[in-house]
Amino acid sequence: MHARIVHSTAPTFRKAWSSLVGRRPWICSSCQAYSRRNRYIATQSPSEKPYYITTPIFYVNAAPHVGHLYTMVLTDIIKRWHVLKGEKALLLTGTDEHGMKVQRAAAKAGVEPKLFCDKGADIFKELAQKAEISNDHFIRTTDGDHKDAVEYAWFLLQEKGLIYEEKHEGWYSVTDEAFYPQSAVKPYLDPPTGRKMMVSIETGSEVEWSSEINYHFRLSAFRENLLEFYQANPTWIVPEHRMKEVVQSVESGLEDLSISRPYDRLTWGIRVPGDDTQTIYVWLDALVNYITKAGYPWAPGREHAGGWPADCQVIGKDIVRFHCVYWPAFLMALGIPLPKQILSHAHWTLGGSKMSKSTGRVVDPFHAIDRFGPDVMRFYMGHEGGIQDDASYDNIRIIQLYNKFLNNQLGNLAARVQRNKKWSIKGAVQRVGGQPAEYWAEGPGSNFWHNSLATIAAKVDSSFVAYDPRKAVYQIADFVRGANDFFQMSEPWAKITPFGPGEPGEDVDKIIFETAEALRMIGILLQPWMPNKANLLLDQLGVQQDRRTFAWCQPGVDLEYGEPMVEIGAGHKGVLFPPLPSEG
Ligand code: MSP
Repeated sequence: MHARIVHSTAPTFRKAWSSLVGRRPWICSSCQAYSRRNRYIATQSPSEKPYYITTPIFYVNAAPHVGHLYTMVLTDIIKRWHVLKGEKALLLTGTDEHGMKVQRAAAKAGVEPKLFCDKGADIFKELAQKAEISNDHFIRTTDGDHKDAVEYAWFLLQEKGLIYEEKHEGWYSVTDEAFYPQSAVKPYLDPPTGRKMMVSIETGSEVEWSSEINYHFRLSAFRENLLEFYQANPTWIVPEHRMKEVVQSVESGLEDLSISRPYDRLTWGIRVPGDDTQTIYVWLDALVNYITKAGYPWAPGREHAGGWPADCQVIGKDIVRFHCVYWPAFLMALGIPLPKQILSHAHWTLGGSKMSKSTGRVVDPFHAIDRFGPDVMRFYMGHEGGIQDDASYDNIRIIQLYNKFLNNQLGNLAARVQRNKKWSIKGAVQRVGGQPAEYWAEGPGSNFWHNSLATIAAKVDSSFVAYDPRKAVYQIADFVRGANDFFQMSEPWAKITPFGPGEPGEDVDKIIFETAEALRMIGILLQPWMPNKANLLLDQLGVQQDRRTFAWCQPGVDLEYGEPMVEIGAGHKGVLFPPLPSEG
């Protein structure tokens, strides 16, 4: 019935595969050169390797919600930070289209699975576009190059004797697309229907019994290697407590992993090479996406050109096991370097309970972006979204943040400095901007110069180095408030001694220059969160396009701005954060 000879099919398959895609099997040669301690992390990136960051790929079984938007936005903020720092950076996102979950959703909708996925993928693409996600790739697991990469990976695992077939009995959750052992499930009585069922203890998702012959991956053989790797790279997962959980779970034992399902149950997926009766497990298929778009299988000499190893892989807390246990084990098995960093974020809740597609308790991200605009949503999610702790989605909080911070603090400061006819930013830049460092060392404004203007960029950068973008945006927000306080307390309007038109005297010029420098740096630093608004601010200040990078984020380095590139008019004209329209 399940007559397959696993190992003897390998050479035939290799030949068939080679003629199919015309590439030689290749194993990262540099991997072999690493010391035992660091052998899985590529420590020396060749200079042509871009910074590479990924989002998880999204299931297309239902429409996206703001939780998915958060994953994308968080990833994009980090990517844009690296671009700001002058690096070439690549962002990969996409859709996870195979598996039982999508197969059933398509059947329920009465649509052929590929058409169903086409529509789902378009919706996620549209979301990325609306949210200003600067993704360089959008992968679909139904893409041809991805199928090649998965088949190739399968073939290598098989060649290495890491795949075997065996009867598998256990509980499968279609929602989680995961097998659970008996010890990980419990009976549950569904209150609304009175239906008795079994659910996963960890996720609460319904599980169903399955008994079948399928292929297994020798995951247990990687236990020691994984533990050794975690020990050598204790900050590999952010936040720290997730790292501890992963170590504990691997220490407590690792079973081999079922990596295929019988074709008669799961038709919607990539067939096991050389065995048409089995379909590859959706998580093995999905995880490979990260290397597919980095060009796997690589031609010699091209191993890093597509960005691999990833510099950061952003994931939600619910998929840590797949990314921090299975994924590194697959990569070790394939002889491929591991990603350098995993950033696991917490979830958005709605009224305190989980936001999830399966329960229908979700917030539509398209509606939210239409209402508040992409920049405000990105800022809100980056400011309030959790890495450690869940955050509660709340429209009232968005409005508060808009009114109290964006409008009252940032917008107001920009308007007050730019619109007053008694002084001019351009004049201040020209008259005092070029003064040497000693000029700012003493007297009024020296503290603001030294403690804030001169330090903010490095502070924000160190938060990104620690993969804490939320701390970074808090630091910028504090800097905005500090600039407001400086301006307010310095009272330039009370110090004007007119020397001529637009010449308010040196004291005022100093205050205006320092405040303008703060605004210029705020504009530069906020680009990853609010690309449009930050650039509008920089346009208002007249900062040249090629002077909007991190390198220009020091006081006194740009002395050629001050002439607005957009109209700064009266009323709402040219206003950064106009009052929010009330919801009809
Ligand atoms: N398809 C898998 C990932 C495969 S990656 C090789 C998957 N897809 S998903 O559509 O269910 O979730 C995609 C991402 O959205 C995950 O990182 C998940 O944690 C995140 N979120 C889902 N619900 C969320 C919230 N309520 N809040 C924040 N993020 C959430 O898992």
